[in-house]
Amino acid sequence: MTSQGAQADIGLIGLGTMGGNLALNIAENGFRISVFNRTLEKTDQFIAKAGALAEKLVPSKTLEDFVASIASPRAIILMVPAGDAVDAQIAALRPLLDAEDLIIDAGNANYHDTNRRAADAEAQGPRFMGIGVSGGEEGARFGPSIMGGGAKDAWDQVGHILEAISAKHDNEPCAAFLGAAGAGHLVKTVHNGIEYADMQMIAEVYGVMRDGFGMSSNEIGDVFEKWNGGILQSYLIEISYKVAKTADPETGKPMLDIILDKAGQKGTGRWTAIEALMLGTPASAIEAAVATRNMSARLDERKKGEAEFGAAPNELDREAVSIDALEAALIAGKIICYAQGFGLILEAAKQYGWAMPLPEIAKIWRNGCIIRSAMLNDMSAALADDDERNLMLAPFFSDKLKETEAMLRQVVAQAALHGLPVPALSAALSYFDIMRTSCSTANMLQGQRDFFGAHGFERTDKDGTGYHGPWAMG
Ligand code: 6PG
Repeated sequence: MTSQGAQADIGLIGLGTMGGNLALNIAENGFRISVFNRTLEKTDQFIAKAGALAEKLVPSKTLEDFVASIASPRAIILMVPAGDAVDAQIAALRPLLDAEDLIIDAGNANYHDTNRRAADAEAQGPRFMGIGVSGGEEGARFGPSIMGGGAKDAWDQVGHILEAISAKHDNEPCAAFLGAAGAGHLVKTVHNGIEYADMQMIAEVYGVMRDGFGMSSNEIGDVFEKWNGGILQSYLIEISYKVAKTADPETGKPMLDIILDKAGQKGTGRWTAIEALMLGTPASAIEAAVATRNMSARLDERKKGEAEFGAAPNELDREAVSIDALEAALIAGKIICYAQGFGLILEAAKQYGWAMPLPEIAKIWRNGCIIRSAMLNDMSAALADDDERNLMLAPFFSDKLKETEAMLRQVVAQAALHGLPVPALSAALSYFDIMRTSCSTANMLQGQRDFFGAHGFERTDKDGTGYHGPWAMG
């Protein structure tokens, strides 16, 4: 399709909404990009709609032409569905590529798959990178947050393109190399886990306002809009007030009143919870958010539950919980869920020997991605100060927690008394209470374990391990 002199800077396979938007973003940033899709029709439609950007786009009819149209060493972005389609695409490309060429999987891959593909690439080429891309359709088109993983020399080859197309915060690109193999995809997975918890906690305070205070969607939208002007300023609060204030064009009712309360999920939140359990690091607010989505999907069962037990009383005493207390609870819950998310990344970095620079991760989440928020700037500063410390203990955040903790407790307690489920906020509160005590109840667990399995315990009054109780004599 192209002459030798006009070879493309990069290629992209998969012209679905995300892939198409990413290709347009790359073209708009001045790079010449070859595009290929399994069905030619889609490629034709894409080019036809590209307007002036079409001159930077190089469509190909066959994979062979596509590969030939890219300048060597080639870099090819895959935007195909995560899973088998990625393996199939790599297998189709491999015989056409040279060892120094580079395949970049930009989908929401499970990072274990990325590790495997990176190892295959080491063994048989071409080179491979897994990048997490966040920001939805809009982000892909106008600037996503990009979490890079793989070989550093591969990043060095394409980093300038990825930085150019990424979102910017104070002119700094929201794109960075985070570590070897699956590091980028793991960070994207944790991003999504945090996304789940952040969304769930917003939904919980929405529930308190709707069912506890009897507020309308519009009134709740006003509250979120006001909060968006303060410390909670974030994309998720912004879209929540917009969702709450939107009316259904068909019925004129609030959209929220006609949306069925069954949440979908594609799996990345669940992967975060699984990973946290495997790494042995607490991510209880994220786990609660995943479990609550699972419960939401069981609508028939929930209906039976309501028929059996009756709906909870719900109505809250406005004297006991104020709107300000809800805001404070959300601030505290948010700090705690990020402390868990960054703690998970830190643990993964240690166990896998990946760089995963935490302050940099917070920085590239400040814009472009779904969890972008004002607080991430402070998180980045706190992590730059000490990236091993639990985020809750960084002075800025410990001060905020001291200010808000009592109100988180009040909200959780009152919600529990009135049958309003707040699973992620409750999990956050329990985490807080456990992580601020040097005297937990795990001594009982150790006693039980030793009683039934002679697992041994440590003593508070002597050094060493492997002590046993006198249980056999009891
Ligand atoms: C992003 C989003 C994106 C997508 C999620 C939704 O960062 O751009 O997280 O990856 O919206 O996959 O996930 P669920 O379908 O699991 O909610």
